[in-house]
Amino acid sequence: VSELNYIAILGRQPELGLVELESLLGPDSIMPFGRHALIGEKLDISKLGGVIKLAEIIHRGTWEGLNLPVDPLKIASSEAGKLQVAISVYGKQINPGLLRAMGMELKRTLQQTRSVRLVLPKTGTSVSAAEIKFNRVMENGFELVVLTNGREVVIGRTFAVQDIDWYSRRDYGRPSRDAKVGMMPPKLAQVLVNTTHSDMVWDPFCGTGQTMQEALLLGRETHGSDAEPKMVKAATQNLEWLGSQVQRPLPKWEVVLADAITLRLPDFVAVVSEGYLGPSLTQSPKDLELGKLQKQLRGLYVQVLANFSKQLAPGAEVTICVPAWRAGTKFLDTGLVDELPRLGYSLKGFQHVSNPLLYERRGQVVGRQILMLKKND
Ligand SMILES: C[S@@+](CC[C@H](N)C(=O)[O-])C[C@H]1O[C@@H](n2cnc3c(N)ncnc32)[C@H](O)[C@@H]1O
Repeated sequence: VSELNYIAILGRQPELGLVELESLLGPDSIMPFGRHALIGEKLDISKLGGVIKLAEIIHRGTWEGLNLPVDPLKIASSEAGKLQVAISVYGKQINPGLLRAMGMELKRTLQQTRSVRLVLPKTGTSVSAAEIKFNRVMENGFELVVLTNGREVVIGRTFAVQDIDWYSRRDYGRPSRDAKVGMMPPKLAQVLVNTTHSDMVWDPFCGTGQTMQEALLLGRETHGSDAEPKMVKAATQNLEWLGSQVQRPLPKWEVVLADAITLRLPDFVAVVSEGYLGPSLTQSPKDLELGKLQKQLRGLYVQVLANFSKQLAPGAEVTICVPAWRAGTKFLDTGLVDELPRLGYSLKGFQHVSNPLLYERRGQVVGRQILMLKKND
């Protein structure tokens, strides 16, 4: 398909980028390419949590006899001054020597018209968003990304990189943080919001308002509630701060005190939330303790989902993170999935990823199981 001229490089957990883009664009408008990328149309990176870089495809071929396409890059390098040229490889473990050799070849060719500085990855085979920013690659040069799915090679010129500074301000720069509840990365919140389609989002466990913040930045009217007055205050403070950080007015928002078990929802709302994950743990729970946690948290979400089920229209969407606990190499969940049919929900089906998904970080005992639900007819 001709408009599929762009490649999106996905984050650490590629499934998150896949589910986000499949939700936004539909299954047929994206083509996974290897494990870490997908081919699709031109996108706005600031609206995506699961995408690290976007590149325009300038060459397709195979590894054997691979020639870097220099001609389109010469045009890009016609301005004056030193050109910063970065090169990254995805989908293949190549040694740093080979990467350097590819870069040097590029540098030699481009240097005929312009002085060039090569930007190579500090570690691994790909230049990070931070390195791109630090070396002003997008302003004073370009990055070439070389991707392979094992058979085919796609070469692209990067045109957008995740704004890491804005992400970190949205995380650590907020006035009201709480190490116990507010640890959800903004990128994950963006992905969660993007799995739903309603113009109005409700977060019934809003905590410090991370999900609300991202929903607002994505242009959704956003409501949040929490059972703790201090969280209602924290979220309100953070969203007021958010308003001061952006140029344009934010969509309408409000934060209210309410227990999710009895909360009244308006019509046409999508529920998007990182729910209560139980106590924070530094060690995997023992069998007995795990059994108690599973029962307690499953009980909470059964009540909450039953409450919403009475109110939501058929087809309404609910994306919610619930806990899953690390046990050796596996994660054990609440068993909530088995309760969904009687609660009136189905897991949405995706072509390129499974549902539920698991979001986990190394060293964390409590992971997040992401359930993407639809209210049954
Ligand atoms: C994991 S935190 C959510 C963190 C949030 N994503 C943030 O940005 O801070 C869970 C929140 O759920 C709230 N909570 C727990 N049980 C609740 C209930 N039954 N109804 C409403 N809120 C509840 C807690 O007060 C806590 O703020």
